[in-house]
Amino acid sequence: MKALITAGGHGTRLRPITHTQNKHLIPIANKLMLGYALEYAHDAGIEEVGIIINEKDKSIEKAFGNGDSYGLKITYIEQSAPLGLGHVVKIAEPFIGSDPFVFYLGDNILVGGINKFVDEFQSNGSNCHLVLSKVPDPNRFGVAEVKDGKIIGIEEKPSNPKSNLAVTGIYIYDSHIFEAVNNIKPSARGELEISDAHQYLLERGYSITYSEITGWWKDTGKPSDLLEANRLVLDNIKDNRHGNIDSLSTVSGRVIIGEGAEIIDSNIRGPVVIGNNVKIEGAYVGPYTAVGDGCIIINSEIEYSILMNDCSILNISRRIEASLLGSDVQLLRSKSKPITHRFILGDQSRVEID
Ligand code: G1P
Repeated sequence: MKALITAGGHGTRLRPITHTQNKHLIPIANKLMLGYALEYAHDAGIEEVGIIINEKDKSIEKAFGNGDSYGLKITYIEQSAPLGLGHVVKIAEPFIGSDPFVFYLGDNILVGGINKFVDEFQSNGSNCHLVLSKVPDPNRFGVAEVKDGKIIGIEEKPSNPKSNLAVTGIYIYDSHIFEAVNNIKPSARGELEISDAHQYLLERGYSITYSEITGWWKDTGKPSDLLEANRLVLDNIKDNRHGNIDSLSTVSGRVIIGEGAEIIDSNIRGPVVIGNNVKIEGAYVGPYTAVGDGCIIINSEIEYSILMNDCSILNISRRIEASLLGSDVQLLRSKSKPITHRFILGDQSRVEID
């Protein structure tokens, strides 16, 4: 079995972060988002992975190389234009050949990996295995209509969904999916929709089975999704402390603290992950915060947030929460008169102040 993982797209809802980096390289609990997909694939016994990237985007290959560090062999496949997930599968046919494969949307994060779904696909012997999850807003997703334990129809982002069962971004196929993607036509938005390929299989009598996720799953389209994914992963970390914690500091709950970190006269309340060479002084770092390598937090309070590498938060009086800071962001208290707010913000930055 192989895996095909998407890492393209433009991440428009995550701007400005995605102006300068591929969304799949945003860290969740200090690990690159796409790394989770690669770990799940490896844990499921998969050795060969194809990663779909935007044309000329070398950043994913720079981050994951040939896959050695994940015990995988990675092949990069460029998609020339965003023509839909059906198109992604279509252009991957030379890589996949006749093998069964897991198709995994690289921005999906879930608890517990994919082994269970792969096992169910194999024991069911179906042509296609979908992973469903109940959601409050099914019109944002592919939606499955299920009757007597069987999928009888699938629609992409329907305005009147027939159920609350979203089709998540984890699909397992045998090679009949290529017949489907080679026969469907582009939708009104000009894309080959993966839901149309599934509907094609159903109408031709191919078997589609499913599993339902009862735990936690998220497709990370918006900043609030990233914060929730971060919370989910931090909820499952194991305590692992390096660095230096001075006697004036309190560190409680499950906390990962990296090499070379210095915690001085501060209160860290887990679950929290703190990267390497971080300095935290006179500060509070509260639950569900991920602090990237090289960050400095002094005389400030932060919780439920993601800080990418090399951020500085210095002398900010009001507690910061539900925030997403890109690399090398500085939040400082103004020293020179007049005391004002001074901003240097890139396109599509978001700031909320009292
Ligand atoms: C895609 C699929 C949709 C699926 C969703 C899961 O939508 O088209 O069927 O439910 O992924 O993440 P997108 O997120 O690209 O809008």
